Amino acid sequence: MDKLRIIGGTPLHGEVSISGAKNAALPILCAGLLTADTVTLTNVPKLNDISTTLKLLGQLGVKTTRHSDDSVSITADEVSTLEAPYELVKTMRASILVLGPLLARFGEARVSLPGGCAIGQRPVDQHIQGLAALGADIKIEHGFVVARAKRLKGAVVRTDMVTVTGTENLMMAAVLAEGQTILENAAREPEVIDLAELLIKMGANIKGHGTDRIVIEGVDRLHGAQHRVIPDRIEAGSFLCAVGAAGGEIMLRNAAPETMGATLAKLQEAGLQITCGSDWIQASMSGRPKAVDMRTHEYPGFATDMQAQLMALNTIAEGTSVIVETIFENRYMHVQELIRLGAHIDIDGHTAVVRGVKTLSGATVMATDLRASASLVIAGLAAEGETFVERIYHLDRGYERMEHKLRLLGANIERTTS
Ligand code: EPU
Repeated sequence: MDKLRIIGGTPLHGEVSISGAKNAALPILCAGLLTADTVTLTNVPKLNDISTTLKLLGQLGVKTTRHSDDSVSITADEVSTLEAPYELVKTMRASILVLGPLLARFGEARVSLPGGCAIGQRPVDQHIQGLAALGADIKIEHGFVVARAKRLKGAVVRTDMVTVTGTENLMMAAVLAEGQTILENAAREPEVIDLAELLIKMGANIKGHGTDRIVIEGVDRLHGAQHRVIPDRIEAGSFLCAVGAAGGEIMLRNAAPETMGATLAKLQEAGLQITCGSDWIQASMSGRPKAVDMRTHEYPGFATDMQAQLMALNTIAEGTSVIVETIFENRYMHVQELIRLGAHIDIDGHTAVVRGVKTLSGATVMATDLRASASLVIAGLAAEGETFVERIYHLDRGYERMEHKLRLLGANIERTTS
């Protein structure tokens, strides 16, 4: 199994290019199911979650081609089965995103229920209730969500909470439904907007994406399109936390700072000097960061996907910070590992109190989920001596060659295989 070996204490200097957003690319790939024509995507990151999605689409009979550059084409002209099996869904919860498109276009879908998850319970009841509101006959049978509908019918759907993939699934279902659908309490994440932009290019009639009320007029069919996936705001934010922790000066190219307001504000509060252009971010840091409080929130609030990385920065900050995780009930799996590196953190329910220490000391730690892994890498870059981060298959799900990019910035980091 691969692990990362990091010798901390080297400031970062140089330039890296940010990859396409994982959480935009995943629903966008599934949107290819909505037409028999070819959908061509560029800026698709090379990640394990993307390979899993391509495998899932391939199993459904979709032709998928990954070109040598960062582009992927998908043609769903001969879909042969409408079932997403447990073996794939259990490795990636986002597989649930085939449910809406399959049901909308083929009138039927069987998608395995995802099951447990390291960061929380993560049910998909809102996806199911929303599709039922659109007229689907939907039930759970033998561990599968089984849905049928001759043609979905537009309706007003109000989810109980803001859900990102829930909004995406319902939007993909509603574009081919008969009549008007209004999604209330919709997610406003940039990844939802990017999916809507692709769907519009495919012929969908969508308004209000980016607000909490999305209005969709169903159409009879969609056609092929070309689309460039937006840059990954979480990858960019993670590199900014890395320079905050290790010091130095870096330039991020192909970034989308306009999607990163809350993260950039917190990092500036922590002491980073940040300058942005339309598609680049330059950041420098000297000395110890200042402790910053944060409370995770749906977009445009501070992203839960940045909580672990900013906590890593807080572990070496001057002062004490209070962190409240409001989206997932179990997203503090990195805390015990950060403590192994010498961090002082107390958890009480959803709240973590971090008392900054002057230095962390290298140790062997274990990655438990994607963003937790990134936080351990960031802590390792700041720690004295040698840190090994084990189980980095979590990291490979969502960061494109992170150690390679960090090496470009001068970090002393390497992948080892045991
Ligand atoms: N929820 C329900 N029922 C539902 C749907 C959601 O109770 O039917 C709850 C969840 O359990 C959670 C909250 O609602 O407590 C919000 O979950 P949401 O549905 O928004 O999460 P998601 O769509 O499953 C996406 C990202 C996550 C990111 C969250 C929150 C993708 C593929 N995944 O998940 O990304 O943390 O939104 O922003 O878009 C990651 O990239 O590391 C990651 C976990």
